[in-house]
Amino acid sequence: MPKRFHLGQYTMMPVTHHSMVTWKHPMHMQHPWRFDRPEIWQHVAKVCERGKFDFFFSADTEGIYADYQQSYKPAVRFAAQAPCYDVSTMMAWQAAVTSKIGYVFTASVAALPPYLLARRLSTWDHMSAGRAGVNIVTAFHLSSVRNLSIDDADHFAHDRRYDRADEYMEVMYQLWDSWDEDAIVMDVEGDMFADPEKVHPIDFDGEWFKVAGPLNVDRSPQGKPLIVQAGQSKRGQAFAARHAEVVFTIQHEVAGMKRYYDSVKGQLAQHGRSADDLKVLYGVQPIVGETEEIAQAKADMHNAMLNPEAGLTILSGHLGYDLSQEDINATVDGLKVPGIQGLVDMYMTSATSTKMTLGDIAKAHARGVSVPQIVGTPEQIADWMAETMEVVGGDGYLLSPVYLPGSIEEFVDLVVPELQRRGLVRDEYIDGTLRDNLMAF
Ligand SMILES: Cc1cc2nc3c(=O)[nH]c(=O)nc-3n(C[C@H](O)[C@H](O)[C@H](O)COP(=O)(O)O)c2cc1C
Repeated sequence: MPKRFHLGQYTMMPVTHHSMVTWKHPMHMQHPWRFDRPEIWQHVAKVCERGKFDFFFSADTEGIYADYQQSYKPAVRFAAQAPCYDVSTMMAWQAAVTSKIGYVFTASVAALPPYLLARRLSTWDHMSAGRAGVNIVTAFHLSSVRNLSIDDADHFAHDRRYDRADEYMEVMYQLWDSWDEDAIVMDVEGDMFADPEKVHPIDFDGEWFKVAGPLNVDRSPQGKPLIVQAGQSKRGQAFAARHAEVVFTIQHEVAGMKRYYDSVKGQLAQHGRSADDLKVLYGVQPIVGETEEIAQAKADMHNAMLNPEAGLTILSGHLGYDLSQEDINATVDGLKVPGIQGLVDMYMTSATSTKMTLGDIAKAHARGVSVPQIVGTPEQIADWMAETMEVVGGDGYLLSPVYLPGSIEEFVDLVVPELQRRGLVRDEYIDGTLRDNLMAF
């Protein structure tokens, strides 16, 4: 029996996700779909549930990237992850029409006080019957920070940002535990809805947060939502090793996937956790066709529409650094940035002897923020996924679409049956929560 792996669907709602082509792709959002209406999001959620995916994931941010040419205008022009709708709201529409698949929305510890996020997540977990997850981020780019009344210099002290996030998590854990499991008694004769002795204040008084508690939401089906994270740096990985049940990582080569896997899994024991307690999921961009020629034609069509300047715009946003000042024909060796440094390091660590120039990187970023593009028949894509998991060790993939709803429908209708036939992914959900399903293998 082969080791099974997990599948999740990546999005960044509503138009860009990873590929900068998506919004203008001729097969994207054909009538009757519209990105600004709930029906498309409900439809793709149902398709993912049909494919027995663990969860639907959405990235989020609180500002329009304004790094490239030091202006927000290129990001607006190229739809560089803008517009970006509030994903916890978007996903509530989706959860209402599905019953098994989980939802992981991104939330920044810089945006909401921990009490309000804990409350939102508990509410979500109740309403979805235990299908809530959260991708914890710290607001890495300046546009978000400027919109959140945060003092810039203070926020960008990188490791301090994670120290604050550690404390933020601790507040949420205590709030989620502030109602005992058996607190609600519904004793009509004694006129007692909930036993006050089983609901506790937390009286948290830390370096950043002061929170009395208890939470004004009772204990939710999962107790706490599934915790997801995407830190790449040493400090980011330490945060993941302590808190996360899933890490989402982007690695453009299999060797990098393996390095990341070993590094983050190697840190779990320090926190009394086992390797199975944390699942590592890798971004991939599958382009599937009934034949190799059909798949290749689809990839060619997509890749011919790339605009490197759109790539520079989104990459500048991810790095928090204006790449318009750099030489497009040179490498970015040694570049230090305030944003996602791991991306620079990743691009500069290539298995090939020739290093990527900034021009190559711009194209890779426009194509799909550097997630590997896997082109082929269902069998070829299943082969790649199986072989990669063999090399890396686990634990699955987050699929990045190039057009909607087609990319997701094609994967679910063509590739999933092949993966199921090989026993590599689940055939059916178990009766339980998002966490129960994820931790089942
Ligand atoms: C794959 C991936 C997905 C991410 N998604 C988001 C996101 O949706 N919103 C956000 O604000 N930050 C996001 N980030 C940024 C991270 O949360 C983190 O701030 C950034 O990677 C810098 O952390 P590091 O210094 O540990 O690398 C993402 C990062 C990666 C690598």
